[in-house]
Amino acid sequence: MKLNQHDTVGDLVARNPQWAAAFERLGIDYCCGGHRPLDEACTQRGLKLDDVEAALSAVERPAEARDWRAESLTALADHIEQTHHVFLKSQLPRLTELIDKLVVVHGRRHGELADLREVFDGLRMELESHLQKEEIVLFPVIRKIEATEGPIEFHCGGGLDGPISVMEAEHDAAAEALQRMGELTGGYATPADGCATYRTTMDALAAVERDLHEHIHKENNILFPRAQALVAARG
Ligand SMILES: [Fe+2]
Ligand SMILES: [Fe+2]
Repeated sequence: MKLNQHDTVGDLVARNPQWAAAFERLGIDYCCGGHRPLDEACTQRGLKLDDVEAALSAVERPAEARDWRAESLTALADHIEQTHHVFLKSQLPRLTELIDKLVVVHGRRHGELADLREVFDGLRMELESHLQKEEIVLFPVIRKIEATEGPIEFHCGGGLDGPISVMEAEHDAAAEALQRMGELTGGYATPADGCATYRTTMDALAAVERDLHEHIHKENNILFPRAQALVAARG
């Protein structure tokens, strides 16, 4: 396999969704940082292009991976809501309970848990309102654009670019909160004196981070640019 080092990381994952986990392991940001060319992303992480290429070629393509570049925008928006949004809505309240419990039981010995709770509470609040904006405003507009023929008329003269740039800025903020939580917990590690709840919490946070990266990638690198291209093509 020969990779084009000038391809952006986001495009590579859009074409090869099975590579998301490999980029995740290598610490290469393919969602909010998906616009960067592969060589730049490797340099930033101090990785050799050849090593990254070897890691990617070792990944097998799952039989049923869907190519979201070829599906309808409506199918992609539905999929994002039904998988990633549903997952977050189940995990965010669960994590509040888990983290609260950790602060009570381990907070004295692990002062960083209070900071973790503060960062998580902020992330949860922002994400809950973010999901609502996508579900109530942006995704319905995208579905309507796809279902309507001819030029598109937006209410109040606005287009898609404004709402999309707001969503992207909120994705950046969420990615920063995740990074901060990763730092506070040493990469979601359970300390030697941690209990089973500690491990469960760290595992659940790591799972939310992985899922959110995939979720943001599908929006930033596939759904939003395809919707913008559709509006531009209609004139
Ligand atoms: Fe979303
Ligand atoms: Fe989003």
